[in-house]
Amino acid sequence: MRFQGKNVLVTGAAGGIGRAIVAGFQRQGARVAAADLQSVPLPVEVMLEGDLTDPKFADTLPGAASAMLGGLDIVCNNDGIITRGKITDTTDDDYHRTMAINVEAPFRICRAAIPLLAASGGGSIVNTASCWGLRPGPDHPLYVMSKAALASLTQCLGRDHAHQNIRVNAVCPNEVDTPMLRTGFGIRGIDPDSGIADLNATVPLGHVASPEEIADVVLFLASDQARYLCGALIEAHGGKPVG
Ligand SMILES: NC(=O)c1ccc[n+]([C@@H]2O[C@H](COP(=O)([O-])OP(=O)(O)OC[C@H]3O[C@@H](n4cnc5c(N)ncnc54)[C@H](O)[C@@H]3O)[C@@H](O)[C@H]2O)c1
Repeated sequence: MRFQGKNVLVTGAAGGIGRAIVAGFQRQGARVAAADLQSVPLPVEVMLEGDLTDPKFADTLPGAASAMLGGLDIVCNNDGIITRGKITDTTDDDYHRTMAINVEAPFRICRAAIPLLAASGGGSIVNTASCWGLRPGPDHPLYVMSKAALASLTQCLGRDHAHQNIRVNAVCPNEVDTPMLRTGFGIRGIDPDSGIADLNATVPLGHVASPEEIADVVLFLASDQARYLCGALIEAHGGKPVG
């Protein structure tokens, strides 16, 4: 029960990794405010439905979670979209939407959450970045640059707010078996199960990550066991870095 008495905000909570993060925190005693665009009923204390491209929703989310939970200790910026295709295939709308969801929303949420965490003596922020933001994977320049920005934001805030006892870190997965990964196969006309099986064979540990394997890293980073980590970018890739 590492998180007994802790109040947690998780974005992208209805997605593959988000659900595993929420379930992990709950199993270990936390009270959770779950935020997502999708109106999926989750068994959480607070469900905050809204679009993170709306600046007002993002700006007010930590305050709303804190008011409804009775405080805020941990924030997980886990929302995200993947925009595929070479730069010549992408539109202005692709650019603005990718940056709004993957970068601007975590920026706004961190900016609003830090004073709340500081006022209660400190806390932890865990961002879901990507291996693909640390080194460039092919044919996803918008996604890669957005995750690189999130990784950089993590390092900056990890440094700037450590003195307030606020630790900001990120998990950087490679492929994870979630709807985000599976829709890519559908678009290319590949059966998602056989696509995952082919990808499994490319990972030295033998399988792409399960959502729970990534959630476990998030929970570690949020916990006291990671008390000396600030601005860390933890790659979780089963031995398969982006090459
Ligand atoms: N699946 C992978 O292979 C993989 C790899 C590395 C990093 N990631 C990152 O992990 C995080 C979670 O991804 P996932 O694989 O669980 O994907 P997912 O698509 O299952 O979940 C993403 C969630 O974000 C929510 N979301 C999207 N746009 C939103 C908006 N405008 N407002 C509010 N919520 C919005 C979606 O509704 C969804 O529930 C993302 O940041 C993603 O970039 C995923």
